Formats: sequence, C-alpha cells, structure tokens
Amino acid sequence: MAEKFYITTPIYYPSGNMHIGHTYTTVAADTMTRFKRLTGHDAYFLTGTDEHGQKIEEKAAEAGVTPKEFVDKIVAETKKLWELMNIQYDDFIRTTDERHEKIVQKIFRQFYEQGDIYKSEYEGMYCTPCESFWTASQLVEKNGEKVCPDCGRPCKPTKEESYFFRMSKYQDWLIDYIETHPDFIQPAARANEMLNNFLRPGLQDLCVSRTSFKWGVPVDFDDKHVVYVWIDALSNYITALGYGTDHDELMQKYWPANVHLVGKEIVRFHTIYWPIMLHALGLPLPKQVFGHGWLLFGGDKMAKSKGNVQYAQPVVACYGCDALRYYLMREMPFGADGNYTNEAFLNRMNADLANDLGNLVSRTVAMLEKYFDGVLPAWTNAVDEELDKPLHEHCQALPSLVEAQMDKLQFSQALTEIWKVIGECNKYIDLTQPWVLGKDPEKKDRLANVLLTLAECVRYVAVLIYPFMPTTPERIFAQLGVEEEALTTWESLQTFGQLPAGIKVCKGEALFPRIDVKKELEILSPAEAPKAEAKAEKKAEKKAEKKHEEPEYPAEINIDTFFQSKIQVGRVLECTNVPKSKKLLQFRLSFGKDGERTILSGIAQYYPNPEELVGRQIVAITNLKPRMMMGIESHGMILSAVDGNGNLRLVSVGEGVEDGAIVG
Ligand code: MSP
Repeated sequence: MAEKFYITTPIYYPSGNMHIGHTYTTVAADTMTRFKRLTGHDAYFLTGTDEHGQKIEEKAAEAGVTPKEFVDKIVAETKKLWELMNIQYDDFIRTTDERHEKIVQKIFRQFYEQGDIYKSEYEGMYCTPCESFWTASQLVEKNGEKVCPDCGRPCKPTKEESYFFRMSKYQDWLIDYIETHPDFIQPAARANEMLNNFLRPGLQDLCVSRTSFKWGVPVDFDDKHVVYVWIDALSNYITALGYGTDHDELMQKYWPANVHLVGKEIVRFHTIYWPIMLHALGLPLPKQVFGHGWLLFGGDKMAKSKGNVQYAQPVVACYGCDALRYYLMREMPFGADGNYTNEAFLNRMNADLANDLGNLVSRTVAMLEKYFDGVLPAWTNAVDEELDKPLHEHCQALPSLVEAQMDKLQFSQALTEIWKVIGECNKYIDLTQPWVLGKDPEKKDRLANVLLTLAECVRYVAVLIYPFMPTTPERIFAQLGVEEEALTTWESLQTFGQLPAGIKVCKGEALFPRIDVKKELEILSPAEAPKAEAKAEKKAEKKAEKKHEEPEYPAEINIDTFFQSKIQVGRVLECTNVPKSKKLLQFRLSFGKDGERTILSGIAQYYPNPEELVGRQIVAITNLKPRMMMGIESHGMILSAVDGNGNLRLVSVGEGVEDGAIVG
C-alpha cells in the first residue's frame, strides 16, 4: 500500500488579498505534494482560511459589510489565485465552515470538562493585529512606546473574564518531547529558540476565550465567550479530516500529519500550543513543523500594512506560473529569509530558464531534426567512456539526489541538483561538438549516442521538474515526441537510456524566451529613481504610511487645534504619474476662488488610470508647508482612507459642494 503523506499550509487570514509571501508557502506545499505523488505516495494537501477574530470584525465594519460577506469575497479571490498558481489542494477549510465550528466547540468543551481549561480573569495588553495577549514584561520598547514583541505595533490595555488553558501542566512533557524528537521542529535552530525562549523560562497559562468581540466560535456552554482564534485555527488540521465526527476516515488514514509548513513567526503556536492541545486530546503529534523564512521586500517582511507587497497575479500574467513557482522555490533556501525583487526574478528567468533549460531543449531537438530528420536513432556502440559515462551516471543518480533534498524540504537544493545536470549537458554539447560530428558521415553512430544522451537527460529533467513547474514538462515532452505516459514517471528514471528509437521529435516554441530585463523591469515596476530622490520618496512614504497606521490619538483635543488645519475641497484638473516614481501621483487642483495648486500624493498603485480622476472633487489640507518630492514642490496633502481590501481611496464630498469650500 502506498505510504501516506499529509501536508498543510497555515490557514491564511482573509483580512486582505494574498500576496507573494502567502503564495510562497502554498507553492512549497503544492510542490511537495506533487513530489510525493510522483514518488508513489498517497498524499493529502490541506489549505484554507482563518476567518475569525477582532481584526476581521473591524475590517468588515470599516467596509460596511458583515464579517462573513467580507471574508467570502477574499476567500473567492484566494481560491482564484491558487488556481492561477496551479495549486492542487485536496481540501480548503474555512474556520467559518459548520464542520469546523462544531468540532472546535466540542474540543473546547472537552478541555473544560477534563480540567485543562478553567475560568478566571485576565488583565494585560492586547495586540489586535496579532490577536495576542501580552504581559507588561513581554512588551518591547519602540520609540519610547511599549509595543507588541511580534509585530511592533501598539497594544491596548485589556481586562476581561476569560477561560485559561493550563499550559504549565504540560511544560515538562513538551520539553522532553522536543528534546527526544529532533526532527519535530525544523530547522533545528527554531527548536532551540522554542526551548530557550519560551519553554525553559516557564509556560504561562494561556487565555483561550474572548468577550471583547463577537466574531468567533461561541463557547457553547458560556456564549458570552468566543474561542481564542489560535485554538480555533490550529484545530483546522484535524477538523478538516473529520476528527470528532462519525466520518473520521480521513483522520484515521492521514493523522498524524507529516509536516505543517508555517512561517517562522508562527512556529511558536505550532510547536507549543498545538502539541499541548493534541496531547490533551490524546492524539499523536505531527511528525514535523517546518518554520520557513520570509520573503522580504526591500529588507522588510512583505506586509500590506507596510505597503511593500508584491502580488503574484501581474508576474504570472507576464511570465506564466511556472516561472514564478521556479523562482520562489529556487531563490532562497527553505528556512531562510530572502529578498524578493523583480530584477532577481527576471535575471533568473533568463539565466536558468531561457539559457540553461530552454537552450538545452531547443538545441537538442533542433540537432535531432537536422541530423536525424527528427527521428530518434537507436543507441550504438560508439561510446566515449570519458565523456558519456559521468553524465549517464550523474543523470541516473539525479532522482535520488533530488529525493534526498526533498525529504529535508530543501526545495532550492533539489532544483540546484537538477540544474547541475542541465549545466553538465550544455558542457557536454560543447565538448562533443555535434555540429562537427554531423559533418562526417562516419561519425553518425557517435552523433546518435550524443544526441540520445542529451534527449534522455532532457527527459529526466522534465520528469523531475514537474512538482515545481507543473506545466513545463508537457511542453518538453511534446517537443521530444514523448507520448507514452510510462516515459514520464518516476519509475521510468530507474535506468538511464529508456527513450526508444523511432519516436519523432517536434520543434516547438521556445520554452522561456529570453527577455530584456531592463525593459521588463519598467513594465513590472517603473525604473528606480536616482538614489537621493528615492530616499526622499521613501521618507515621504513612511510619513504617509504612518498617517494610515492609526497613530495613538490624544483622548481629546481643543477645537482650535482642529481649526489650525485648512481643509478644502478641490477639483482635479490634471492627474499624472510622477516620472520614475512607483508611488506618487501629481495633481493639478482648482480650489475655486483660492486658485490652483499642485499636490503630490502617494496613491499611484491604487489608481492605475490617474487620468480618470480628472473632474473629480477631492479633500485636501492646503496650509501645509510646501515640500519637495522627486523634484516637484507639493503644496498640501490630499486625504484618503483605507478600504476593506487595504487599498487607499480618495475621500470625496457630497453633491453641490463648491470648489474651494472649507471642510470643518
Ligand atoms: N492565520 C494565521 C495562521 C494560522 S495556522 C493555524 C496566520 N495567517 S497569515 O495570513 O498572517 O499568515 C499565513 C502564513 O503566511 C504564515 O506562515 C506567514 O509566515 C506566511 N507569510 C506571510 N507573509 C509572508 C512573507 N512575506 N514571506 C513568507 N511567508 C509569509 O498567521
């Protein structure tokens, strides 16, 4: 019977659309699932969304919709994105699914009844974006303010009646478990972090219910309370398998999970709270929790709140999903952080995909057409031991080299192994010089072996890249003339030299056409501004960002303080992108009898067609000190607000308001 393999991604917060960071984890899980299926495993892949909590409740209220309406929209977009990325999950669990909520209630009740959960009162600091409680000593200092140690944002003092989970009771058991199961937390450094920073100093009992908001799973025996989002969310890995129901066949079959893939900031939840929950339920622990690194943008974790996000859609639209999947899995070792840049992506496309792989395939097929009328010859005795043997052996060893890396979730290393063979093939072409052999009819036998060697290596590569780039192998097989499925399987890689004589190759389009990086960069993101100006822009952006980051407002201000700002209605006369700036739009505005002025606003990414704003009325502060940005003087600040999807939208006024009218 096929060996089981159960893999999960974290369930994502649908507080905004998923960006390349979320795509990264999901592509990794999909790649691993495909690899396991290729190698004969019975793999099951679960992903989903984590839909409860105060943050979602607040975002929905801001957008003027119910929380369910709010998340439904984002979940639909998320599913579309996974389709675009060719993600083949087996199940998509939503924490608002009835099947999930019911079992979460049951689990919570069981904990309470068996004495793991007790009722008490909580007093501390609460970080809404992270849905985490902190004691005063856990907060860290930032710019003279005490902030959340995870995300660096301000926390609110909170006091409420709560249920608590007796984590402390399980502390020694968990320390022992982690110490005796070195594979449980990977990379190993993260295990030490958990032991030294959280477990050995002593576990505090965890507050596992909330009364301050409603959008959660109600505690069924005390409905003033909703279940803490992490208890709710972590349970997804078993509720999706039917745990606690009469239909728990999947649970019987697939639990314990082989691996939970999670970002490094949520390793703590998965290796402390989750194991304790499972142990309290009498269930075995997942075999592994792998904490991967972050995709950084400009050295910082990509996050909507920081305005430094890259989405997969435009990249896939231009270059296809396989190119992006390849880049994500290749660029950085799984476990480490790495920068995402469009430039690095485009360079890799050229170097690895167009040059190394693309050229190897097109040269091989072209030479078979030229010298053998496109029909694969039979192997001959014309072997050059020194040149052929190492390549044949290397290629035959490739599946196990790749598997060894995949078993450690080292996606990037697995691809490196495949690309080593591609590189060796390209070198083999230079050394064997088929174009010289082709001139000499007596060397035809030798030429046959050279081209067959190349074609067979290409076949190995096509089979092995499939988990990473699911649509490229079909295109390679079409060019190689491989129609038989038996030649595309893992088993077909057992012995080198399977390609049969007589099949007809067929030259097709370039797999990955070479691209002009400079030109493409302009398409993906406008050219970088000169350094000084870029710096100035960044500073201005940071300020603008702060404006939307909900600063700590004083509890009260004098009306005079408000009236110090001159806020006016203006009409857009002209609106254009600022050359060399990704963020800025330049507005020419009319303020009626107060005349015209130019104002720059960092909202370009939210208004891709700025000319459409002409004629519209906006609201601006007009007595701000003028400021230079990108060599243009800005005379004021246009007001905008964040919508339910995290996009900035211009503030507008009702009908009949005259240009220049004072707001206040
Ligand atoms: N809802 C929780 C997870 C609950 S699992 C029981 C959550 N959601 S999240 O949407 O904030 O993040 C989901 C995953 O996406 C995390 O593993 C996180 O690390 C990952 N990523 C979010 N941004 C990322 C990058 N910039 N780079 C890599 N991964 C990133 O946490």
